[in-house]
Amino acid sequence: MTNRKPRVLATRHFPPDVETRLTANFDAVLNPEDRLLDGQALAGASEGCEAIMCAAGDPLNAETIAALPASVRMIATFSVGYEHVDVAAAAKRKIVVSNTPDVLTDATADIAMLCLLGAARRAHEGAAMLRTHHWVGWTPTQLMGVQVTGKRLGILGMGRIGQAMADRARAFRMTIHYSNRSRLPPDLEKGAVFHADPEAMLPHCDFLSINAPMTAETRKWVNAERIARLPRGAIVINTARGGVVDDDALIAALRSGHLASAGLDVFDGEPRIHQGYYALENTFLLPHMGSATVETRNAMGFKALDNLEAYLLRGQSPPDLVRAS
Ligand code: DGY
Repeated sequence: MTNRKPRVLATRHFPPDVETRLTANFDAVLNPEDRLLDGQALAGASEGCEAIMCAAGDPLNAETIAALPASVRMIATFSVGYEHVDVAAAAKRKIVVSNTPDVLTDATADIAMLCLLGAARRAHEGAAMLRTHHWVGWTPTQLMGVQVTGKRLGILGMGRIGQAMADRARAFRMTIHYSNRSRLPPDLEKGAVFHADPEAMLPHCDFLSINAPMTAETRKWVNAERIARLPRGAIVINTARGGVVDDDALIAALRSGHLASAGLDVFDGEPRIHQGYYALENTFLLPHMGSATVETRNAMGFKALDNLEAYLLRGQSPPDLVRAS
């Protein structure tokens, strides 16, 4: 009798070492061209599969989940965020869901700091000036930005990535304010100022960093009213999910000068981002690359595989099981 390997659909082209392990342990259906699958294509491609290894942006909404073949027992997302998976709809079909927490904390906090520095120090304008041959040489008033050292940083969402961002900001002698569902214990808070009400934190933010997951509660949380509560000249950083920001409101505040700048790695509806951003010089924009290091992407893939192997090969609960809230 042959031991049939469980069939797993990889919705994206994953890093080579990850695909090597995936194909060694599973009957893997790969996507070498990295073709984006819509819901219908995704359901079709998962025919005969026991699991789907997906990634941020894959439309595993209720409609797609309803269309999945009965063979599918697990969805392992190659991401810490899982707003693209309707976990409740999956639970109804007894499909378990896992994600990849922890391993991308440092890489994402690094990019958050890069966004903060890039936005404050006009990195995009400087780089463009040089690369387009418009640099006339050093002048006393050229590209003056905002000093970072010693300023106040407000962090919305003090989970793993928020805390790692705070650690980095402390090296710049920044005063940390934060708002989170619950207050952190003193050893994790490390002197940061807790605001039970996130709105009350806003007037204290020279910089506001979004590190909260995308939920019904956080959708478009950064809106015109809340931006108005930030001090004039504040800078907004978002490395979490674009949907937490109301793009029209942010763009209006960047145009009016109420906000000095924004550093954004994530966008609502990405990759089709709000056209208004392209026309703004006072932005430092990156294409959702928070976790994009070789080490981190491998670690994310290996974590997704740890979960698949636990459930499909050993009949155990996946270590990073996501529960429907
Ligand atoms: C995640 O893991 O949620 C990231 O956004 C992908 O880098």
